[in-house]
Amino acid sequence: MGKVKIELNGKTILVTGSPGFIGANLVLRLLKEMTSGTVISMDNMNDYYDPALKEYRLGLIEEAAKGSPVSHIFIRGSIADKELLDRVFAEHKPAIVVNLAAQAGVRYSIDHPDVYMESNLIGFYNILEACRHHPVEHLVYASSSSVYGGNKKVPFSTDDKVDNPVSLYAATKKSNELLAHCYSKLYIIPSTGLRFFTVYGPAGRPDMFYFSATDKLSAGKTIQIFNYGNCKRDFTYVDDIVEGVVRVMQGAPEKLTGEDGLPLPPYAVYNIGGGTPENLLDYISTLQEELVSAGVLPGDYDFDGHRELVGMQPGDVPVTYADSTGLEKDYGFRPSIGIREGLRNFARWYKEYYKS
Ligand SMILES: NC(=O)c1ccc[n+]([C@@H]2O[C@H](COP(=O)([O-])OP(=O)(O)OC[C@H]3O[C@@H](n4cnc5c(N)ncnc54)[C@H](O)[C@@H]3O)[C@@H](O)[C@H]2O)c1
Repeated sequence: MGKVKIELNGKTILVTGSPGFIGANLVLRLLKEMTSGTVISMDNMNDYYDPALKEYRLGLIEEAAKGSPVSHIFIRGSIADKELLDRVFAEHKPAIVVNLAAQAGVRYSIDHPDVYMESNLIGFYNILEACRHHPVEHLVYASSSSVYGGNKKVPFSTDDKVDNPVSLYAATKKSNELLAHCYSKLYIIPSTGLRFFTVYGPAGRPDMFYFSATDKLSAGKTIQIFNYGNCKRDFTYVDDIVEGVVRVMQGAPEKLTGEDGLPLPPYAVYNIGGGTPENLLDYISTLQEELVSAGVLPGDYDFDGHRELVGMQPGDVPVTYADSTGLEKDYGFRPSIGIREGLRNFARWYKEYYKS
């Protein structure tokens, strides 16, 4: 599908879910590279994980904004608050919206369904309604590799069927894609969904394996390795995700008319993943080495004594593996940062943040 080129400079860009992990990294990049315009971060700063980390990321953003020609506005509030969202759109008229706000986490969704419904369904619906009443040049939103559920065929392609979610989280993300398709078709809202594959990096999410394992090992606790280590994950370093998002923001799906004379939905979905799934045990070994070399853990740490191999958990899938050829073809980019470099950056950040 053809793309309409979008200039970011001079525009107002709304990033929901900043200062969440990916959102904060995206906003930092925009503040660094844009030469004019306004970036709005919107987040309810919930306590699903330590809000101090969100405040820390917000501090980095506010510091970066001081030296940037781009204005930064932070709005503390929920995308599930329709009136608030409507006011934000009416007042600031964002040209580009990147919706990253969501309740993340596969396992948490099993016991906490309400918050997924509120943020991921009602919240996303509100974003679509706001884009309908205050037209935007491009809506980019986070989907997830989890929509592939237990699909056996790898690599996962956006042409594959994704009708078998194995967690409520996955079902909400697939629903986002369906709702976006409908709004793109009915109200000609250019939208692009991005299926992120296991994103990691400095100041990441403490609920994710590499981070929680580091916390546990630092506290002398035992880490659990699911499916007896027989898992493969397409880990994607956060800078690669941000590069992908920034490129996608600048190319919206074209508005075309179908043979029936009706508009075709300016709608697209892409995978963003490294394309080189790593064995979980190799990933853990690399993490351990980097934690030792960053000085987070001592060289003689008894890693074998602090690991327990356990079975598969509900909601988990044994493998994720991205076919990112669509992204490469349409935006000339594929993630390339390997786990050694990525985990090294994480370990160094962890040492500085928690241990100095
Ligand atoms: N990190 C990953 O591996 C990964 C993988 C696939 C998809 N995603 C998706 O990418 C997006 C960003 O993920 P992340 O890893 O940065 O997670 P994150 O939890 O760090 O960021 C999400 C942010 O959204 C905010 N938020 C949640 N509900 C909200 C609401 N109702 N209103 C306003 N703000 C709200 C949270 O406070 C948080 O700061 C999410 O949509 C997530 O589902 C992430």
